[in-house]
Amino acid sequence: MRNWPDDVLAYGGDYNPEQWPREVWEEDIALMKQAGVSFVSLGIFSWSWLEPTKGEYDFAWLDEIMGMLAEAGIAVDLATATASPPPWLTTAYPEILPVTIDGTTLYPGSRQSWCPSSPIFRDAARALVTQLAQRYHQHPALAMWHVSNEYACHNLPCYCDTCAAAFRVWLERRYGSLDRLNHAWGTAFWSQRYTDFEQILPPRTTPTFHNPTQVLDFKRFGSDTLLQHFIGEKEILADLSPGVPVTTNFMSMTGFRHLDYHQWAPHQDIVSTDHYLVNTLGHPGPELAFQGDVTRGLAGGAPWLLMEHSTSAVNWQPVNPAKALGQTIRDSLTHVAHGADTIGFFQWRQSRAGAEKWHSALVPHAGADSARFREVARLGEIAAALGEVKGSRVEASVAILYDFQAQWAWSGPAMPSADVDYPEIAQLTHRLLRERGITCDVIHPSAELSAYAVVIVPTLYLVTDDDAASIRAAAERGAQVLVTYVSGLVDENDHVRLGGYPGAFTDFLGVRVEEFNPLLPGDSLALSRGTGARWSEFATATDAEVLISYAGGPVAGSPALTCRRVGSGAAWYAGTRFDDDTWRSVLGEVIDAAGVEPAAYVPAGVEAVRRRSGERSWLFLLNHGAGEVRVAVDGYDLVSAASVDSEIVLPPGGCAAIREG
Ligand code: GLA
Ligand code: ZN
Repeated sequence: MRNWPDDVLAYGGDYNPEQWPREVWEEDIALMKQAGVSFVSLGIFSWSWLEPTKGEYDFAWLDEIMGMLAEAGIAVDLATATASPPPWLTTAYPEILPVTIDGTTLYPGSRQSWCPSSPIFRDAARALVTQLAQRYHQHPALAMWHVSNEYACHNLPCYCDTCAAAFRVWLERRYGSLDRLNHAWGTAFWSQRYTDFEQILPPRTTPTFHNPTQVLDFKRFGSDTLLQHFIGEKEILADLSPGVPVTTNFMSMTGFRHLDYHQWAPHQDIVSTDHYLVNTLGHPGPELAFQGDVTRGLAGGAPWLLMEHSTSAVNWQPVNPAKALGQTIRDSLTHVAHGADTIGFFQWRQSRAGAEKWHSALVPHAGADSARFREVARLGEIAAALGEVKGSRVEASVAILYDFQAQWAWSGPAMPSADVDYPEIAQLTHRLLRERGITCDVIHPSAELSAYAVVIVPTLYLVTDDDAASIRAAAERGAQVLVTYVSGLVDENDHVRLGGYPGAFTDFLGVRVEEFNPLLPGDSLALSRGTGARWSEFATATDAEVLISYAGGPVAGSPALTCRRVGSGAAWYAGTRFDDDTWRSVLGEVIDAAGVEPAAYVPAGVEAVRRRSGERSWLFLLNHGAGEVRVAVDGYDLVSAASVDSEIVLPPGGCAAIREG
């Protein structure tokens, strides 16, 4: 077994040699050396090559390429190859195919066409994993196991009969009795009371709105089912290949909502993620930073592994612009600034055939004689130069709470407003703080909050009693806690907390809301300072100082921003979606009240994030703007390999990683 590269930031990507004739492999290895590639993820979609017919394995090609990689000193993140079933399996057992909400079967011919609950698929996958683990656990190239690939990307939710039966088992385990299930689901409503578990179905297409708790539980069930699948493969690896870290690549993208990664993360030996930009043009900095901070939150603050991103264009949008030259380096270093210790891509060599042949890669169709490959090789040098940063942690004293289950529960139909989109306000808040040079941890509400001077609770619609108590305790201990509209409204069963909103926080905030008044898209209300949109409320400040109130309209006189002293901290409430300028200034007041300083004072457009390891620290400076900037700083820049004396000049897109002190 080989260690994950530790004197460099590991650099590489998915490698699919089975797509290429043998002679290309030699060139691959030579070019990997040239590009500074130190790891590859191998075999992710190789099942039909490794097991061409049931129980008959062909490892010759994998042996050969593993040997070549070992000799080249390139670490292998070896896939369990179970992401996509081979045609012989789906032909023999068509019942493993997933089914959509309206009963459509998702046939093979693409990828990931397997039902998450299928025991046939699970057993077939385990048989392959067992073979791989036995064969390669002592291989000198093996450094990590990569289980499946992007769980749930295409096959969740599945509404098939196998899932229906598994859902009932899951519900019996969760509730223990039908009475408890009927209570949790509120089945007194619309004549839904169940008298036998057999009557329960997945929330398939219905005449009108589903039972929302049924939908919420079905999402929990789907996430749990795939997690059990992951754990099943991991157990085999832990047994047959002890000591080799195991991961599966998450999908840190705001639009991906199928898995509760907070439940998954503790089962990863190292958290890894894929990150693709929906819009490669424009200004990806805020999105990269937010998702980096989400991923670091999943990793409990530890460094994480960027398994995949793209060197340039993706191929899954109607139009797929290239990244500007240089952007790949800046985007990669933005991930590193936010805690990534590995820079990975999909994929090593751009495919010649198949559904992703127009997706960019480290080696483009044009070959190594290309500006893109030269950029790739430069990034390889930088990854090597940044090796000393590995293992350090990002400094942050502001927490933004983020919960996939709150997102699930709020995102249903039949809600007060579809124009309040979780996590829009979390992302806006993150962006405005980032512009101020403030780094945020984005963490689950149940995370330890004691280290934070500021805790922001954006639209946390669903919150458990325990988490609400922990948030309140943070203020008692001295934190500035800022809660926004649509927080604390329901419990984990999606039952409304009665007696005045926002239920879990009414007394804590000293604000009592009697009724919501969501605003139509485009409408806004005048406030004593700024304007409010999307949301307003008939509210009273029962025990809080009113800082901003509605100047007119239906809720005139209601408070929009309040503050209440709590213990040695404070509880702030923001009851509307303030215009950006007002929200920026409100956040500034909260930050100032907590005495939080930026990582560095930098010009507009420059992002500054500090990573620290004991006494040592590195200040990352990333110029996301269009002009050259000067930043006052001293130290040694690992990117340019030069000392910096009092000031560094960064061109547009320029990056620095300054070893301080
Ligand atoms: C995902 C998958 C890869 C590839 C890329 C393309 O991240 O894991 O196999 O499909 O998307 O963007
Ligand atoms: Zn199914």
